[in-house]
Amino acid sequence: MNNEEKFTREKVLWVKQHSPKHLSFAITRPNSFRFSAGQFARLGFIQGQGYIWRAYSMTSAEYAETLEFFVILIEDGAISKYFANIQAGDEILLDKTAQGFFLPERFVDGQDLIMLCTGSGIAPFLSILQQPEIWQRFNTLALAHSVSYQNDLVFNDFIANLQNHPLVGNDFHKLRFVPITTREQDASHLHFRLPESLKNGTLSKAFDLPFTREQSRFMLCGNPTMVQDTFQALLSQGFSMHRNKLPGQILMENGF
Ligand SMILES: Cc1cc2nc3c(=O)[nH]c(=O)nc-3n(C[C@H](O)[C@H](O)[C@H](O)COP(=O)(O)OP(=O)(O)OC[C@H]3O[C@@H](n4cnc5c(N)ncnc54)[C@H](O)[C@@H]3O)c2cc1C
Ligand SMILES: NC(=O)c1ccc[n+]([C@@H]2O[C@H](COP(=O)([O-])OP(=O)(O)OC[C@H]3O[C@@H](n4cnc5c(N)ncnc54)[C@H](OP(=O)(O)O)[C@@H]3O)[C@@H](O)[C@H]2O)c1
Repeated sequence: MNNEEKFTREKVLWVKQHSPKHLSFAITRPNSFRFSAGQFARLGFIQGQGYIWRAYSMTSAEYAETLEFFVILIEDGAISKYFANIQAGDEILLDKTAQGFFLPERFVDGQDLIMLCTGSGIAPFLSILQQPEIWQRFNTLALAHSVSYQNDLVFNDFIANLQNHPLVGNDFHKLRFVPITTREQDASHLHFRLPESLKNGTLSKAFDLPFTREQSRFMLCGNPTMVQDTFQALLSQGFSMHRNKLPGQILMENGF
């Protein structure tokens, strides 16, 4: 199979620059592109005689007409150089197949969905939180987003506005959102690192939610060291990795 059969050429529809290093953008969605909230796409650009490809989680809903993404620009990052200059009308390559198993519906039981993320690891949860089934299925949706600085918290308004989302509506009270800044102290955010906050009980207190094997289902996404350390903290508290044949309480995805 040649490369042209594996991807489609899409158009950038809009770009929103949240800060010098954070941007969101939308691209056209081919009718044939299907995904489940929590999955990622491979986006690419033509680079010389070849291509450059990277994984990006969809932030838009499964049912949206366009595909939206959130990108943190990495200094001297190979694909970040392309994203730093993208504009409406530009072409972007989209691998035809969405990928990933970071899917809340894999949890067949449990009452509370606890979503723990750092940095761009919030991306899959933005899509998941737009799925009406999630709001009906779980009693509590607890989201903690850890970033270094206040300016990195670019989705607080999006999350607050979910209360006006037609498919969320009266279930909005189920959401508990804890934004965390780790390198900047101020009154409106908490300031802990996720693995330690699990070990010392601060996170459970911040959510006002007990964590139990019967009720809690954890999804971890972001900095790979955070994912690994948080996983270890959960293991030491008696939780286990979820596998389809051996149900547990933890799903995780490295954000880079
Ligand atoms: C499953 C999956 C989903 C992803 N989804 C997203 C997404 O939705 N949004 C997004 O911005 N990135 C996402 N990434 C990361 C993305 O694929 C790229 O790695 C990233 O954009 C940097 O690419 P680059 O070529 O500019 O830099 P690279 O040369 O690939 O990376 C340079 C270094 O930057 C660091 N780094 C890479 N990505 C990040 C990041 N997101 N946050 C903090 N540090 C990072 C790492 O230390 C890496 O070694 C995802 C990665 C995976 C595996
Ligand atoms: N954020 C910045 O302003 C900044 C400045 C210069 C360069 N960069 C680079 O730019 C890229 C993106 O930065 P980013 O800040 O979005 O992503 P990041 O470095 O992954 O940090 C995001 C969040 O994850 C936390 N974290 C990292 N490792 C952790 C662990 N093992 N356990 C628990 N929490 C952990 C960070 O806490 P801590 O803050 O405590 O690490 C921060 O709250 C990275 O390559 C970074 O090195 C970022």
